Amino acid sequence: MMETRIVKAEQGLDEAVSIIKSGGLVVFPTETVYGLGADALNPQAVKAIFEAKGRPQDNPLIVHISDVEQVGEIAVDVPHVFYELAKKFMPGALTVVLPKSDKIPDVVTAGGNTVAVRMPDNVVARELIARSSPLAAPSANRSKHVSPTTAQHVYDDLCGRVPLILDGGPCGVGIESTVLDLTCDCPTILRPGAVTPAMLAEVLGEVLENGKVIKIAKSPGMKYEHYAPVVTTVAAQSVQSAVECYDRAVREGKHPALVFRDIYRDVTQDRDIVSLGVTVDDYMRNIYAALRRAEKDFDFIIVEMMDGDGIAKSVMNRVMKAAGGKTV
Ligand code: TXA
Ligand code: MG
Repeated sequence: MMETRIVKAEQGLDEAVSIIKSGGLVVFPTETVYGLGADALNPQAVKAIFEAKGRPQDNPLIVHISDVEQVGEIAVDVPHVFYELAKKFMPGALTVVLPKSDKIPDVVTAGGNTVAVRMPDNVVARELIARSSPLAAPSANRSKHVSPTTAQHVYDDLCGRVPLILDGGPCGVGIESTVLDLTCDCPTILRPGAVTPAMLAEVLGEVLENGKVIKIAKSPGMKYEHYAPVVTTVAAQSVQSAVECYDRAVREGKHPALVFRDIYRDVTQDRDIVSLGVTVDDYMRNIYAALRRAEKDFDFIIVEMMDGDGIAKSVMNRVMKAAGGKTV
């Protein structure tokens, strides 16, 4: 088995550049989740991503760039509105789907004629890209597991499968980027994220004013992404129903955990809690780490559901996948 090393991002940068240039894999930090990167222009290197993750070949990858102008290498017929979006959200948690250039191998796009492009908001990630190549990169988890937000999460999933993990500390955003398709008649959100429909509407406002709607549809990969902990997980519609479910589980001999924010301590009291922090942003940043901790220490997970639009809704999209749609 291959040795896997975790190295501080700045210190590992030179080695990462040479691994990518020689067709290998490197895990790198981004503001959303950790990415498993390979040279996007090298089909053999990209194939290795699918093998390391156990990812189905028909699920396309995002190409990460270090500079807005680099989009010209990756995509063709880039619409003006892309640059408008870039001004506001790049670098950042927005991925945009565009018509693909011939330079991008089919294995990156799963044979499709579009390509997803993102500029990560992480200096080391961008430096790695600038010094090597645009990077094709999915989240650095084993296929179907929870996305990683620390280097240790990546190590837990991919030890022996990648040579180098660049450690940039915990991810600040905590869920994967918003995926926006600009190749349809109306800009379409394929995956909700921290860049919300309302934020996009500020840039695409014209489109909305003309009576067109930003649609929420499913991206091809969504059917594969369960974001699921390895133990049974349910989403709780209220703190009361969570506590009832918890107490019932204890009576049945289970060892449950409440994955909740601290604002409910009055009700949750001395039951086992994996804290999501206090605010909605805390919840988003902490959710994946909390699910991973809970699956290690407990055999049943009860997760807080949040009301509301925007970020809360994006986070609930992931939580409902983790719970396989089960609510209490
Ligand atoms: O935040 C993120 O986006 C992270 C970091 C590492 O950048 N990456 C990530 O990649 O979440 P991945 O592969 O786990 O998810 C990419 C999503 C999938 O749902 C995939 O189907 C969709 O983007 N996607 C990729 N290329 C596409 C394309 N050409 N058209 C439509 N959807 C695409
Ligand atoms: Mg993923």
